[in-house]
Amino acid sequence: MAANLQDRVTLHNGVTMPWFGLGVFKVNDGSEVVDSVAAAIKNGYRSIDTAAIYGNEEGVGQGIQIGLKEAGIAREDLFITSKVWNADLGYEATLAAYDESLKKLGLEYLDLYLIHWPVEGKIKDAWRALETLYKAGRVKAIGVSNFHVHHLQDLMKDAEIKPMIDQVEFHPRLTQQELREFCLEQGIQFEAWSPLMQGQLLDQPELQEIASKHGKSVAQVILRWDLQHGVITIPKSIKEHRIVENASIFDFELTPEEMERIDGLNQHHRVGPDPDNFDF
Ligand SMILES: NC(=O)c1ccc[n+]([C@@H]2O[C@H](COP(=O)([O-])OP(=O)(O)OC[C@H]3O[C@@H](n4cnc5c(N)ncnc54)[C@H](OP(=O)(O)O)[C@@H]3O)[C@@H](O)[C@H]2O)c1
Repeated sequence: MAANLQDRVTLHNGVTMPWFGLGVFKVNDGSEVVDSVAAAIKNGYRSIDTAAIYGNEEGVGQGIQIGLKEAGIAREDLFITSKVWNADLGYEATLAAYDESLKKLGLEYLDLYLIHWPVEGKIKDAWRALETLYKAGRVKAIGVSNFHVHHLQDLMKDAEIKPMIDQVEFHPRLTQQELREFCLEQGIQFEAWSPLMQGQLLDQPELQEIASKHGKSVAQVILRWDLQHGVITIPKSIKEHRIVENASIFDFELTPEEMERIDGLNQHHRVGPDPDNFDF
């Protein structure tokens, strides 16, 4: 269980990854993303999650450089994730996409590179490319996103290296118990996207009640619930006061009863597409 904002979990290959980070989906390239990434690093965040399809890798790279200076830390202190988009799944195409992401970010390596979506028939070649990058020491860890249990099982039939991460939609309306248990058994670290359900849970009465008991916001309660479940979380905000608020969750603890109540809000409800029915 993370004790502070910079605490890390050890992935199955021995690399450590912060439990908490900043997501930048739908954050505009240019000053919007530059400022949010720099603000996050200045306020103690050490992990940033982007993707080629977000179209903001250049701004993320600039924000990183500003953040490094302001925080007085080194590149190695950060953990940077990006993802290969569906159109670039294929052995050569994925290798080229990795180089393109590095170029845009202005970085020499990524800490984590993910297959963004499980496009049928295209996963295995792309995974071989990720394995090549990993074995060459060009990326610290490799993983997948939006993989159901059956996608993971299929990938692992032929994979030389097991994914270190599965990053999927996870929040109190979609608690993904079966997938979490499978990942735990396999040593694949589970990571949440849209942990705040893109803001849709903030007026949920039970969450509000729990939040007021702790003198915390609903967003803070949800993010704390993630960490107490052993789930990496990467909430997005472009507002510095929320970037600070979201990370201020290391001074309270949810009781087992509160954890259960929040688990009970599950309705298998998604804000994003179901990976089995995504129109690729
Ligand atoms: N792998 C994938 O397929 C995938 C898919 C989706 C997302 N992701 C990753 O996961 C990250 C997080 O998911 P997300 O961006 O979809 O949604 P999210 O983090 O669940 O929610 C972000 C929304 O909540 C608002 N918000 C943030 N903190 C708040 C607070 N303390 N109080 C009230 N509102 C708050 C933000 O608004 P403001 O910005 O205005 O504060 C924004 O509208 C993404 O940025 C991305 O990195 C990955």
